[in-house]
Amino acid sequence: MKPSRECKEAASLIKEYRGSIVAFTGAGASAEAGIPTFRGKDGLWNRYRPEELATPYAFATNPRRVWEWYKWRMSIIAKAQPTMAHKVLANWERDGILMGVVTQNVDGLHQRAGSFKVIELHGSIWRVRCTSCGIRRDLGFGNIPKEDIPRCDECGNILRPDVVWFQEPVPLDQFQRAEELFSEAKVILVIGTSGVVMPAALLPINAAREGKILIEVNPEETNLSNLARVRIREPAGKAFEHLARLVEEDLT
Ligand SMILES: NC(=O)c1ccc[n+]([C@@H]2O[C@H](COP(=O)([O-])OP(=O)(O)OC[C@H]3O[C@@H](n4cnc5c(N)ncnc54)[C@H](O)[C@@H]3O)[C@@H](O)[C@H]2O)c1
Ligand SMILES: [Zn+2]
Repeated sequence: MKPSRECKEAASLIKEYRGSIVAFTGAGASAEAGIPTFRGKDGLWNRYRPEELATPYAFATNPRRVWEWYKWRMSIIAKAQPTMAHKVLANWERDGILMGVVTQNVDGLHQRAGSFKVIELHGSIWRVRCTSCGIRRDLGFGNIPKEDIPRCDECGNILRPDVVWFQEPVPLDQFQRAEELFSEAKVILVIGTSGVVMPAALLPINAAREGKILIEVNPEETNLSNLARVRIREPAGKAFEHLARLVEEDLT
């Protein structure tokens, strides 16, 4: 299939602004890896609604059930491979085209694809945190806790996934790092996000307000679509296959 007009337009902006580009990714960036999104079609996690399980209230009332759901999600993610979109973003960072990635995803696939500068706004599913002493522990990609409710080695209290749940604030240090990275960028690649989760969505919204160029990659229209200069209505993997070819063609 030939690249669309939008892909060509995006590729020429990427070449023009190389070195001043940041990617902002959401669940859709990992959809082709077989990891369901929260919203959009096919965005249903098992028989539960994420809004009912990814909350402090759900964990306080039934930690076993929340852990069961997380361990099931971990088992899906553990089998997933980075998509073409993850790989191209990692290559572009290595080649000095991309400054880094700000992600809402918790799956760790950007790092697995070889990206170094990855700001995780919503934490990582491969890290746990003690609900009592606050200590954090990296599990390592693919390592799913065996216990029904894992416990802290230090104080014996219940561990939770070190992710940001609905109704919880985003870690301030991560958000500030993301703001700094955005402030240096001229182009933002907005990939696979519905743009409704706050405050994360403020990053591209403010960037557009400041005159930065947004390029959206999403098969569906979103909250951010009308802010974007270019809208690529394709799955991220397909779009990045085209973009990689178009960008590299001229740079070599
Ligand atoms: N992989 C993950 O880590 C994962 C998965 C699900 C949810 N989450 C969490 O849920 C929250 C949901 O917000 P969100 O905006 O990231 O996701 P979302 O679920 O709200 O929206 C997903 C978006 O991806 C789009 N999409 C679907 N398939 C796509 C594809 N192949 N290519 C490009 N786009 C595609 C959809 O049209 C939709 O706009 C985030 O905070 C995130 O932490 C993470
Ligand atoms: Zn502890």
